[in-house]
Amino acid sequence: MPIHGFSASPILVHGAIHKAAKWQDGTLAFEHGCQSNPKQSEFVTLAFHVSLVGRDDLSGEIYRQIRQAILDGRLRPGERLSATRELAAALTVARSTVAIAYETLVAEGFATSRAGAGTFVSHQHEARCAASKARRSTPRAIRVREVWETISLPPSLRRAAHYDFRAGLPDASLFPHRTWRRVVAHALRSSEVAAGLYENPAGDPDLRAAIARHIGISRSVSGSSDDIIVTNGTQQALDIIARVLLEPGDVVAVEKPGYLPPKDLFKALGARVVGVPVDNEGLVVEALPADARMVYVTPSHQFPLGMAMSLPRRRALLAWAERRNAVVVEDDYDSEFRFGGRPLEPLQTLDTTGRVVYVGTFSKTLLPTLRLAFMVVPPSLRAATLKAKFVTDWHTATIAQHALARFIDEGAFARHIRKLSRIYSERREMLTAGIRSNFGDCLRLIPSSTGLHIAAYARTASLGDIEAIASRAFDLGVAIQSFPLEGKPQAGIMLGYGAIETAQIAEGLRRLRSCFNERLSRRSKAA
Ligand SMILES: Cc1ncc(COP(=O)(O)O)c(C=O)c1O
Repeated sequence: MPIHGFSASPILVHGAIHKAAKWQDGTLAFEHGCQSNPKQSEFVTLAFHVSLVGRDDLSGEIYRQIRQAILDGRLRPGERLSATRELAAALTVARSTVAIAYETLVAEGFATSRAGAGTFVSHQHEARCAASKARRSTPRAIRVREVWETISLPPSLRRAAHYDFRAGLPDASLFPHRTWRRVVAHALRSSEVAAGLYENPAGDPDLRAAIARHIGISRSVSGSSDDIIVTNGTQQALDIIARVLLEPGDVVAVEKPGYLPPKDLFKALGARVVGVPVDNEGLVVEALPADARMVYVTPSHQFPLGMAMSLPRRRALLAWAERRNAVVVEDDYDSEFRFGGRPLEPLQTLDTTGRVVYVGTFSKTLLPTLRLAFMVVPPSLRAATLKAKFVTDWHTATIAQHALARFIDEGAFARHIRKLSRIYSERREMLTAGIRSNFGDCLRLIPSSTGLHIAAYARTASLGDIEAIASRAFDLGVAIQSFPLEGKPQAGIMLGYGAIETAQIAEGLRRLRSCFNERLSRRSKAA
C-alpha cells in the first residue's frame, strides 16, 4: 500500500531540515501548548522549526521566531531548546549564528542557560503565554458552515451523581481489567504491530473472523469476515455509510423520538433528516417519506423507548426498502443483554436483497472509551465502504483490535457477557419492580426485554415537569434522563441500570419519588 503524504527521509521545508518528519517536523513542534508543570517537560529537546528562506539577518530571525514561539505558548516554560550545534546543522548555518540568537534570548529573560545542561525556556513567561494565546484566537474570524450552529456537544458524562440512572452506560467497575491487560500486552508483542505498518482499512482479519463467529452464533447475523469492517464506534460506522450513500439534500429517515448523535451527523453531512414516528411495534413504516434514501433504526431496543420492532414491521420495512431502493441501517447497540422473551431475527438476517447494513458496538459490552464497533456490509456497498473508511482514518487502532480478537477467541468475551447479564438482570428486576410498585400513578413502563435501560411514559407530567424533576433529583444525587415525545404533550424518562450499583437502586428510587411528590403536589396546588 502506498504511503500518502508522509516522508521519513530528510526534507527541506522553509529552509529547515527535518530529519524524521514523524517527530521532528514543524507540525509537531507547533502542537505544544502552555503547560504549567515545568517538571514534565524539563529535559525535552525540541527540533524547532525556523524559516530562514530569503532572510538576511539570520541570528535575528532565529531569535525572533523562537521568542514569538515562547510568547504564544508553542514553546513551554522549562523546555530545552535544541543544542546550538544541532540547530545550526539543521538550518545549515554557522553554530555562532545560533549561539548569538540564544544569547539574546537569555539576555532578555526569555531563556536561561545552564552550564553543561543547555538552554531552557524561562519560567518568567508563563502568564504572558496564556494572554497572548487568547489574543490569537478570534472565534468568528473564519465563517463555518451554518449547520454547526445547530449542533451541540453532549453534556459531560463524567460521573456526577451518586445514584446514577443514566441510560446506556456500562458498569466500568465490572470491566475485566486483568484479562484485558494480558491481551493488550500480547498484542503489543505481535509481529504485525511490531512491523509498524499501516493495516487493512477493514480491520484486523482475526478480529473480523471472531466478530463474524460471535454475531453468527449470538444474533444469527449472516456474513463472513469479508463483510465486516471494524470502526471507531457506531458513530463512525454511520458516518462511513452516510458518506457512501448520501448526496447533499438526500433524505434520511430516523426514528422520532430517537438517538440524537446520528441525526446530527447526517445533518452535518448535508442530508435532509426526517423524523418518523414509532409506536409500540417500532417504526411506523407507512409514515416513511417516499424519497428516503436511507432509514436508520434501532429495532432490537428502540432508543429511547425500549420496545422491539415487531416481526410484521420488520418485514414491512424491508419490503418498503426494496420497493424504494433504500438502504436500512440496523443499529443493534445493546441486544447482547436479553432478559426474557424470544429474540426476534435481525433485519440483516431477514433481508434477502442485500440492503441492510448491520452495526454492532463494544461500547456497552466492554467500554465506550475503547471506541470499537463494526458493521456488516452487503456486497454492493463493500468496496465503497472500504474506501470511505480508508479516506476517513485509514483504519482503527491496531493494538486494541488484536487484543479484542484474542479476548473473543479465548472465550473471555462470552464469559464477560454472561457475568454482566446476571448482574444487570438483577438490577433491572429491582428497578422495574420499584417503578411498578412506587411510581404507578405517575409513570407507565414501556415493555422491553433487552439492553441497559428501561423507559417509561409520564402519565400526566409535561416535559417541563420532568425536566424540573430531573434537575431536583440531581440536587439530591440522582441522575436520570428525560426525553420529549415529539408532537405529544407528555414526556418520558429513561432509567439505566448499567452505571448504578445494585445496592443503591432502592435509595435512588426513594429520592426520585420524593422529587415527583414535590413537583406534583406543587402543580396540584397551583391548579
Ligand atoms: C442508539 C445507540 N446506538 C449506538 C450507541 C453506541 O455508540 P458508540 O458505538 O458510538 O459508542 C449508543 C450509545 O449510547 C446508542 O444509544
